[in-house]
Amino acid sequence: MRKIMSAALLSISFLGTGSAFAETCSIGSREGLLAYMEEFATSFPPFTAQVAMAQDPAANEKLASFRYNHEACEATINLTGLKECFATADRLAKMNSRRRTISGKATQGMEMSDAEYQAQLPTVLQTLPPELANGLPANWREVAAQKGWQAVTYRSRTVGNPGPTQSYMRVLFKIPGNPYERWIQFTIGELDNPNQPEQLIDAIAVNTQTKQISFNQFWRNSNGKDPQPRASGPHGTSGTMDSCIMCHPNGMRELSPAPGSYPEKDGPTIEAMNASMQDYKKLNWQGVDMDAYGPPIGQVEGCVRCHNGYTGDPEISRGALTVMTHASNYEHKLLGDLSMTPTTLSDRDEALQFLKKIPLMLPELERQRMMMDVYGGSGGSNLPQAISTLDWLRDNKTPAGTPYLLAADRDRYVKSLREMQQENTEVFDGANRTLTPGFTTAEETREWLLQNCEILPPQSVPSTEVVDSENDDDVPTSGTQGTGGSNARPQ
Ligand code: HEC
Ligand code: HEC
Repeated sequence: MRKIMSAALLSISFLGTGSAFAETCSIGSREGLLAYMEEFATSFPPFTAQVAMAQDPAANEKLASFRYNHEACEATINLTGLKECFATADRLAKMNSRRRTISGKATQGMEMSDAEYQAQLPTVLQTLPPELANGLPANWREVAAQKGWQAVTYRSRTVGNPGPTQSYMRVLFKIPGNPYERWIQFTIGELDNPNQPEQLIDAIAVNTQTKQISFNQFWRNSNGKDPQPRASGPHGTSGTMDSCIMCHPNGMRELSPAPGSYPEKDGPTIEAMNASMQDYKKLNWQGVDMDAYGPPIGQVEGCVRCHNGYTGDPEISRGALTVMTHASNYEHKLLGDLSMTPTTLSDRDEALQFLKKIPLMLPELERQRMMMDVYGGSGGSNLPQAISTLDWLRDNKTPAGTPYLLAADRDRYVKSLREMQQENTEVFDGANRTLTPGFTTAEETREWLLQNCEILPPQSVPSTEVVDSENDDDVPTSGTQGTGGSNARPQ
């Protein structure tokens, strides 16, 4: 019966391939194709950033040969119902080929040169709206209110932006529109020098219909005026944009302001902004096929419970962390601001929640004084700053004369933050700046490549002789030696 089946498929495949391609497919049966796919996945190297960037010669060669075979056998693959089984490797092979054509050209991480990327940006993202076209207006709050834009100011915990002071201070607008919603973020002067003109402007456009997300950067002159697209090399710059992909794996980045760093009145808008970033769900990068960058990172550490590329529980699922995500992001989230702890315990959550609510408990001028005392000039917000903030609240008093934070509460919060950091050092190898085991293993890569193939786990796959004896094709022999693992999707 199986023989008859494969003979029938064989003749169909001859018809199919003959019409479309000069090459003929040398693999004529479903079994043969599955064995080929399995051999390909099993012998593929562990997924590293070099593989992703098309800088691993062995992987490049394998992918080029996969592309050749896939093209030659496409009709057979489709007819035998294996389109999905081949799809993951096909995306990877196509991405690899796009990357190889741009190697050496300026690229901020996209699968095309910066110049090509800029030319393809939606028009609304190539320039700034007229109200912002000469930099940040002093009356930005009024402008936003008049236009119906959302606008907030906050201090980033994570990124000191390029510019004269590596400032962590921001003003962010969300500009509604259909289909494009725009997010335009100005770097502004540091706390100790708020009138210092800054130069960077980051901009994102989301097409709410196609779900495509696009990135652009503008650069102002040293007076903070005349913003021009950074890729065009304005005001004496080299024209190199930052690589957005290395920190924005999920498209948008939810705002995670330094504790107490925004005025109370901006609290609800920040919450609404974060909620609307979550509501976008899965966004498609213009110029990057995010699903082609290997298995989600953080399987062992429990990160893929949420960071799974929207394949798990819809309530918590979000974009996958991949080898393209820069290790500084993990370091910051796990050891720095502690916002990404794999285990949640109520006392830790209490400490984190308290830090989030600080603007609600301080009069605005007191809040500003606290920020100056804790941060002064440029600097990130990590555990030491969180502790100084708690110390400040313990040591300063409300007009009625009671401390903002009781000493006992301060001690409890600090204790649980320290425990959290200690625990996270077991997950994140700070010395090598990687998650353990540090890269996506051969097994994870294999499972990922075979994610839509109904292949049995390696130990129970029938031996290659059986497959070969039924078909007279020249399938590479399948290396089915146990690499362990199953084909279950990460949750
Ligand atoms: C070093 C990491 C890093 C890089 C590189 C980076 N970003 Fe961001 N970006 C962030 C973080 C973190 C946030 C969230 C705000 C915060 O808490 O700092 C953010 C927020 C933003 C926002 C506000 C909307 C949102 O998603 O929160 C815009 C707009 C933005 N980035 C644009 C860009 C563009 C455009 C690029 C590339 C040219 C870029 N970013 C590169 C880390 C980065
Ligand atoms: C319970 C769900 C959950 C788990 C588990 C989780 N994260 Fe996250 N992660 C989130 C959410 C929600 C955000 C966005 C809010 C934020 O940036 O704080 C996020 C954001 C991030 C970001 C910023 C990029 C992005 O996707 O916006 C990084 C990097 C990150 N997490 C790393 C990790 C690492 C590493 C682990 C595993 C040790 C992990 N996370 C575990 C929910 C989770």
